[in-house]
Amino acid sequence: MKRKIKSVFNKKNKKKIICLTSYSYNFTKIVDDLVDVILVGDSMGMVLYGMDNTRDINDEIMTRHASAVKKAAKNSLVFFDLPYSKKFSEKNIIKRTIEIFNRSKCDGVKIEGNSELVDVIRYLKKMNIPVIAHVGLQPQKFSSSSKFKIYGRKENDLKNILKDCIALEKAGATSLLLEGMLTNIAKTITNISKIPTIGIGASEYCDGQILVSEDMLGMFTEYHPKFVKKYAKLSSNIQNAIKKYREEVNNYKFPNKKFRYD
Ligand code: KIV
Repeated sequence: MKRKIKSVFNKKNKKKIICLTSYSYNFTKIVDDLVDVILVGDSMGMVLYGMDNTRDINDEIMTRHASAVKKAAKNSLVFFDLPYSKKFSEKNIIKRTIEIFNRSKCDGVKIEGNSELVDVIRYLKKMNIPVIAHVGLQPQKFSSSSKFKIYGRKENDLKNILKDCIALEKAGATSLLLEGMLTNIAKTITNISKIPTIGIGASEYCDGQILVSEDMLGMFTEYHPKFVKKYAKLSSNIQNAIKKYREEVNNYKFPNKKFRYD
């Protein structure tokens, strides 16, 4: 049954919100029954397109992948990532969000940013577009994943992020995505905010959890942050299957009578 925004994001203090990324129709079919929220993340730049960062995913690429994912998702909610733009402009963010939202027919958007997003979120709420605000480590701020920095080691980090999260919640954010931050910061935000927090590299204290599917399934091996637990080793499973296929083709075992038209 199709999940509703309210039933998923009202789970705070009841049940965890389970989220994963997906960029394709087929993969979404596989995970759709098992998660609450699917994020069409701009992490696709790195794990699908082999880019050095997430910044080169543009609105057109995002719309195509988000539409394919949304088409396959019969049960889970689908959020898309608003792609990077060089210059901050509220008007531009709102216009692009509405366009991708309408074209992809997704259930909501995730936007990286801090309290500069307050008016954007207020406006999108009025337009009935749910927003997950992405705070802490924001990959769009970095030109390469090798430069990613865990949030929270500077003196005023806790004070600043709390101020931002309170403002984002007040403006109408549906949820806060907390990425790559010290445990005490994630725990404090989760305790203080009334909206749920979804963590990635932000400890077990968040109200929900998200991982990049390719990371947790062992399909993307170029980058392995500490917070990723690998639940499968799909790269080696795929390689073993292909080795068998190659061997059978070479040895005239496949195709055979069973797989041909006579
Ligand atoms: O782009 C993405 O997949 C994300 C997750 C890492 C949260 O932002």
